[in-house]
Amino acid sequence: MKRWDVAVVGEIYADHVFSGFQRWPAPGEEVHADHYVRELGGGAVNTACALARLQRRVRLIGLIGEADRTWFETRLKGFGLSADGLRSDALNTGVTVSVSTAEDRSFYTYLGANRRLTELLDEATIRAELITARHVHFAMPLMADLAKRLFPLLHKAGCTTSLDVGFSPDWLRDPANRWTCRAVDYFFPNQSEAQVLTGDESAEAFRDWSSSMDIRHGVIKLGAAGAAAIVNGGLLRVAPPHVDAVDMTGAGDAFDAGFIDGVLNGESTENCLRRACICGALCTTRIGALEGLPDFSLLRSTYEHTYGP
Ligand SMILES: Nc1ncnc2c1ncn2[C@@H]1O[C@H](COP(=O)(O)OP(=O)(O)OP(=O)(O)O)[C@@H](O)[C@H]1O
Ligand SMILES: [Mg+2]
Repeated sequence: MKRWDVAVVGEIYADHVFSGFQRWPAPGEEVHADHYVRELGGGAVNTACALARLQRRVRLIGLIGEADRTWFETRLKGFGLSADGLRSDALNTGVTVSVSTAEDRSFYTYLGANRRLTELLDEATIRAELITARHVHFAMPLMADLAKRLFPLLHKAGCTTSLDVGFSPDWLRDPANRWTCRAVDYFFPNQSEAQVLTGDESAEAFRDWSSSMDIRHGVIKLGAAGAAAIVNGGLLRVAPPHVDAVDMTGAGDAFDAGFIDGVLNGESTENCLRRACICGALCTTRIGALEGLPDFSLLRSTYEHTYGP
């Protein structure tokens, strides 16, 4: 019996989201935001919260600055998640500042404590923790040599694995990371990430690339068009439910959670895709990555409404 359903590993951020600026300031000028929120951020937090909301036993693993621990504890608790898997670091929590006008959005990022993530994953205590999960999800551009040390260990311990590297062009272009794409059980790029990998953003190009690379289970996220999985060399496409999307932040991370939840349930690939699409779509209905995440009963009712009983 494994202690956790899922260990989610990745960069952890404090997101500062400023919106409603009338214009961009010139250097030395000040402009005022209409609206500001501070929220936990990063793909690992988003996917972990989504899985916890679906009643999974989740261990979130990453690094934060000690000064933010109480905030993380309180916010994660709202999702039924503990912050105990987050290690404290002398550096501050990573920060992303998001600034938007009606037309555009820009991000400023400080890596902070996340700088030590690769080093952390080589620690024996962390490895011992990872192997107590049924599934390990990496929401990060996992370094090739670290992947080569970790995956054999995880697979030997009977863990299934998945990877969402986010938009990391250097990682996606580096041939050294092809081994990692092959070693992981489920690989979750979105369209722009697939374009960096294959030179083309179509699902067909991703299908051909996945087949030629011997990817175990390639899954491509296609925004409002849903997603597709490569099954026996062909494309299995699923459309999401129709929603009034207001903010795409975190949709891909919610999608990953829905898919992993299906895998843990032993669902067919088509059902995993459907659950994933529902989680992604519902996530877009609220501002921010966390407010729109469905619980199990909303997932089930949306499933029946969209795809039938
Ligand atoms: N407008 C939409 N309507 C319905 N579903 C959507 C919409 N946008 C996204 N989704 C759902 O969310 C999933 C993930 O979205 P997307 O393809 O944008 O991922 P992503 O680019 O990785 O997102 P992120 O910006 O969070 O990294 C899609 O596969 C789809 O199921
Ligand atoms: Mg994404």
